[in-house]
Amino acid sequence: MSEMRDLFISYSNANKEKVEEIVSTIKYFGPTCWFQLRDSKQHFIEEINAGINNSRDFVVFLSNASVSSLMVRNEIARAISQQKRNSDYSIIPVVIEELTESNQEIIELFLGSLNWLYADKYDNYEGLALAIFEQANLTPSNTESGQSIYSTEKEVEKIRLKAQNKFFNEYAKQYLDEVFSHYENPAVLDIGCDTGDNIMMRLNGRKYRFLLGVDSNTDAVKEANESYPQDNCAFIHCDVTSNSFFRDIFSQMQKFRIIGFDIIHISAVLLHLGKVEELLSNLYMLLNAHGTIFIQDEDDGMNIAHPHSKYFDDCFYIWEHSKESGDRAMGRKLPLLLKHAGFKDIKLLSSTISSIDFGEQYKEELWDLYFNPELWSTDSAAYFDNYEAFDRLKVVAQKHSEMKESYLAGEYFITLGIFFYTATKD
Ligand SMILES: C[S@@+](CC[C@H](N)C(=O)[O-])C[C@H]1O[C@@H](n2cnc3c(N)ncnc32)[C@H](O)[C@@H]1O
Repeated sequence: MSEMRDLFISYSNANKEKVEEIVSTIKYFGPTCWFQLRDSKQHFIEEINAGINNSRDFVVFLSNASVSSLMVRNEIARAISQQKRNSDYSIIPVVIEELTESNQEIIELFLGSLNWLYADKYDNYEGLALAIFEQANLTPSNTESGQSIYSTEKEVEKIRLKAQNKFFNEYAKQYLDEVFSHYENPAVLDIGCDTGDNIMMRLNGRKYRFLLGVDSNTDAVKEANESYPQDNCAFIHCDVTSNSFFRDIFSQMQKFRIIGFDIIHISAVLLHLGKVEELLSNLYMLLNAHGTIFIQDEDDGMNIAHPHSKYFDDCFYIWEHSKESGDRAMGRKLPLLLKHAGFKDIKLLSSTISSIDFGEQYKEELWDLYFNPELWSTDSAAYFDNYEAFDRLKVVAQKHSEMKESYLAGEYFITLGIFFYTATKD
């Protein structure tokens, strides 16, 4: 039995170079292809049945040469019979050159009822590949674990995160005052601590017995240990969704002689993780009897800009479809996730921040944190789960300065969904 692949590629040898480039773009995103180099008719005959039967969908590249090719017509006929047997089998015609009138008529007899893609409509092959995936119902790679491809290693993101932390500290302060008021000298665990700067700013001026920060980014953890060498602080490398999570935390707890944590702090992390429910259940076990978990996370459902402008629709669309931005509906999911993990007294302290919260102070920061197109990786459509988001980013980049100016002049009011929760163990 031949192995199963995602796409069977039907084409004419006359277009070999072009098709090879498109196929390598498709493969770059993860899907596997039946793509035979057609050196002989014999080769073709042996492979075609296996290829079509063992692929999930069929892509045919239409050119004057391929429409005239008997091999290609034969493959199309076989794909059509395969589709009759299996209605999930998609046939995706992709036009790669303008067809003569007679070729257009011939091929329409076979494929006229299907949705055709036109390669020249896309700026590059990445866009075309994403459109093929959409039609074939294929998910490009990097998304399977539910984990986003967010990284704090990008310089622009480091700068953004620093500014974000300063700004959000203004909100978090009041909530953390309440949390810390319940403990004399708490042991604190920070999940996804990055370079430690945010948690250290939030702990500034507060009494705590011990802080353990964990993060999967080795360089960030190293930097945290160098920046904060205090005896009662430790930062360790650990993937909080891995099987070694408990072991890693326990060994630190033994070292620092604590039996559990009074406060667990998680800021802007859960949206980037898969297995959130499992993590919350583990955290429930690590919390002391009267302990509190504090979570800050995002939810685009609360994003509003007034007056309405397509510019903001585009921005929100880009956030939703960027693989770097994680699960933009995490905020609303947390009450049930916390409940299922065993937490009690789940409180939503606030669900939005807004452009008027601090008057003129921080107004520009809010814009730069969320609406600066340079924050997004603009060099490749691979960072997005569809091509439209990549396209809209280009429009946003063009209009950005003008929109920022109007916003700073007070022409827009904005709220963004940032949810702050606390929950307790008992
Ligand atoms: C947006 S940053 C937030 C950092 C910090 N909590 C803050 O508020 O500034 C997300 C952090 O989560 C970390 N992270 C992502 N996946 C992780 C995982 N599986 N285990 C541990 N840390 C993870 C990243 O390395 C990054 O430092």
